[in-house]
Amino acid sequence: MKLQWYPGHMTKARREMQKDLQLVDLLIELLDARIPMSSRNPDIDRLAANKYRMILLNKADLADPKTTDAWIRYFADLGIRAVALDARERTMMRTIEDAVREVCREKFERDRRRGILNRPVRAMVAGIPNVGKSTFINSFAGKASLKTGNKPGVTKANQWIRMNASVELLDTPGILWPKFDDEKVGEHLAFIGSINDDIIDTEELCRAFFKDAGVKNQSAVPERYHIEYSEDPNELLERIAASRNLLKKGGIPDTEKAAAAVIDDLRRGKLGRISMEYPEEYGKH
Ligand code: G4P
Repeated sequence: MKLQWYPGHMTKARREMQKDLQLVDLLIELLDARIPMSSRNPDIDRLAANKYRMILLNKADLADPKTTDAWIRYFADLGIRAVALDARERTMMRTIEDAVREVCREKFERDRRRGILNRPVRAMVAGIPNVGKSTFINSFAGKASLKTGNKPGVTKANQWIRMNASVELLDTPGILWPKFDDEKVGEHLAFIGSINDDIIDTEELCRAFFKDAGVKNQSAVPERYHIEYSEDPNELLERIAASRNLLKKGGIPDTEKAAAAVIDDLRRGKLGRISMEYPEEYGKH
């Protein structure tokens, strides 16, 4: 499967990230909880080398909770605090604030020693497209006030969303670019719907899902479509088509329509909470 992020986009995104990072103490990296590795851009480690760091495993409502917990431990081993999140849930924001205070404790203590009181942590959110950055900022801003940038007159004054005395969030997220260095990355991004579907063969994608994450979630498809499991992806598609009465002329199973149904169900969480990447498959850096 060939997928691309154009070099021009990447250069622009990198430049903007570098510029905005200068304004903040803390980088909040949003990943998709179902595919934390494929939705992560490892370049961020270099870009944000001297910033406080935090990871939000977003769309955790669609991922397997045990696997998400395992990912939280995985990142903890790397020294990065990770929190599972459904960015649409405003109630989660309290947990995030607490985590921010914990991650940046050293800064607060240093400020206190120097007699600086109430200087908030400035944070920005970054992540690849569609990971939930705007949703998070909207939820975060829900009960907060928008403070205008303190440099009027510049072309685009950054706005800071003030949560409380200790946290301010930049209102524009940093856009990271996916790293397609492995074929799996593109496939996993396509499973969750982060790749333009026009360039994807749905049937091929669905077969890839059966052979990949589907193997660890063997009961999900049979339960949803009331069929017997098969290790053969083509057979699974035929059974789904028959069970859903998706037939072409002459009663031939319409495997293309069956594949489209599976992929749609997968993305909407109708196959259950499915994680597609597992920490044990990835070594440490
Ligand atoms: P971005 O800024 O990083 O590009 O992502 P954005 O916030 O636009 O979110 C992309 C999609 O993901 C949106 O759905 C949004 O509702 C959904 N989303 C964000 N966070 C979560 C989450 O924690 N759980 C779930 N299940 N979905 C989440 P959409 O289909 O584009 O729009 P709509 O469904 O809101 O109409």
